[in-house]
Amino acid sequence: MAAIFCMLALLLSCLISGTSAQYNIQYYCYQKKGSYTINSTFQNNLNTLLSTLSSHTEINYGFYNFSYGQNSDKVNVIGLCRGDVKPDECRGCLNDSAVTITQRCPNQKEALLWFNSVKCVLHYSNRPIFGVMETYPGFNVKNTNNVTDPDNFNQAVSNLMRNLTVVAASGDSRRKYATGRAIASNFTTVYVYGLVQCTPDLSEKDCSLCLESAISEIPSCCVNTIESILVRPSCNIRFRNDIFYDQTPKLDPDVTAPSPSPPSPLSYTSPMSYTSPEGTCF
Ligand SMILES: *[C@@H]1O[C@H](CO)[C@@H](O)[C@H](O)[C@H]1NC(C)=O
Ligand SMILES: *[C@@H]1O[C@H](CO)[C@@H](O)[C@H](O)[C@H]1NC(C)=O
Ligand SMILES: *[C@@H]1O[C@H](CO)[C@@H](O)[C@H](O)[C@H]1NC(C)=O
Ligand SMILES: *[C@@H]1O[C@H](CO)[C@@H](O)[C@H](O)[C@H]1NC(C)=O
Ligand SMILES: *[C@@H]1O[C@H](CO)[C@@H](O)[C@H](O)[C@H]1NC(C)=O
Ligand SMILES: *[C@@H]1O[C@H](CO)[C@@H](O)[C@H](O)[C@H]1NC(C)=O
Repeated sequence: MAAIFCMLALLLSCLISGTSAQYNIQYYCYQKKGSYTINSTFQNNLNTLLSTLSSHTEINYGFYNFSYGQNSDKVNVIGLCRGDVKPDECRGCLNDSAVTITQRCPNQKEALLWFNSVKCVLHYSNRPIFGVMETYPGFNVKNTNNVTDPDNFNQAVSNLMRNLTVVAASGDSRRKYATGRAIASNFTTVYVYGLVQCTPDLSEKDCSLCLESAISEIPSCCVNTIESILVRPSCNIRFRNDIFYDQTPKLDPDVTAPSPSPPSPLSYTSPMSYTSPEGTCF
C-alpha cells in the first residue's frame, strides 16, 4: 500500500513517500522532560514496570495503567491496545513496545511509542498521566490513492467519525472504542469503515474533545484519500474504504459476541453496546 507519512508535531510536518510499514513504529522522546541517571532508582522502577507489564494476564480489555516507586522516582505507565486486539497479542505488542521504547528513547524520563501500525501504544512518565487528555504529539498517515467520489466520501467520513465519537466516548473506564461503516457514494455501493478509540481513563467529555480535535484535522490533512489514520497520545481515528478491523470484540470475554448484524447502510460494532453489567455502551 503506497502511503504518505507525515509526522506532525503539529508544528513540524514532513512528507515521506513509501509504504505503510513506515508507521510500524512511531515514537516521541520528551527531551524537555530530562533524562534519568543510569543505575538510579528511577531506572530500576521503570525497568520493573516495563518488564512486568506483559505479566498482567488478568487484564483482558487491553488497557494497562500502572505505577511503581515513590515520590520523584515514581513512574507511571499507560499501555493501550486497539480494541480488536486479542489479550495475548496485546501483551506481546506491549512487551515489544517496552523493549523498543528504552532503545529509542534511552534514559528519558518520559516517552511515548506506537507499535505495529498503532496496534498498541505505550506511554510512561514521572508525572501524572492517568486521566489526562493530550492531543500532542501526534502523527497522521494517509494513503496516496484517491477516492472516486470525493464529495460523498468526505461527507460520509465526517458523519461516521462524529457518530462513532459519541459511541466511544460513552464507553466505560476499561474501553472507549467504536467501529462502524457508512455508505460513501450516491452512485455505487461503496462503504467507508471507521474506527475511533480513546484511552479509557479519559472522561466522556475529554474523549469527545480528543476525537473531535483529530476529526477537525481531516480536512487539512486527509480528504479525498481512501484511507487515513490520525494518531494522538489520548486517542486515534482511522478510516478506510474496506474493512480493516476485526468485527468480533476480543478483549472482553464478559461481553457476549454479537449476532451477525443484518445488512444495513450503517452498523456499529462496539463491545459495550451489546451487554454489560452497567448497561452502558463504549
Ligand atoms: C551500573 O551498574 C552496573 C552493575 O552494577 C555497573 O556494571 C555499571 O558500571 C554501572 N554504570 C554506571 C554508569 O554507574
Ligand atoms: C517479552 O520480550 C522479551 C524480550 O524480547 C522476551 O524475552 C519475552 O519472552 C517477552 N515476553 C512475553 C510475555 O512476550
Ligand atoms: C491524488 O490526488 C492528489 C491531489 O489532487 C494528486 O497529487 C495525486 O497524484 C493523486 N494520487 C493518485 C494516486 O492519483
Ligand atoms: C449518524 O447518526 C445519525 C443519527 O443517528 C444518522 O441519521 C446518520 O445516518 C449517521 N450517519 C453516519 C454516516 O453514520
Ligand atoms: C486503571 O484502570 C482501571 C480500569 O480502567 C481503573 O479502574 C483504575 O482506577 C485505574 N487506576 C489508576 C491508578 O488510574
Ligand atoms: C448524495 O445524496 C444525499 C442524500 O440524498 C444528498 O444530500 C447529497 O447532496 C448527495 N451528494 C452529491 C454529491 O450529490
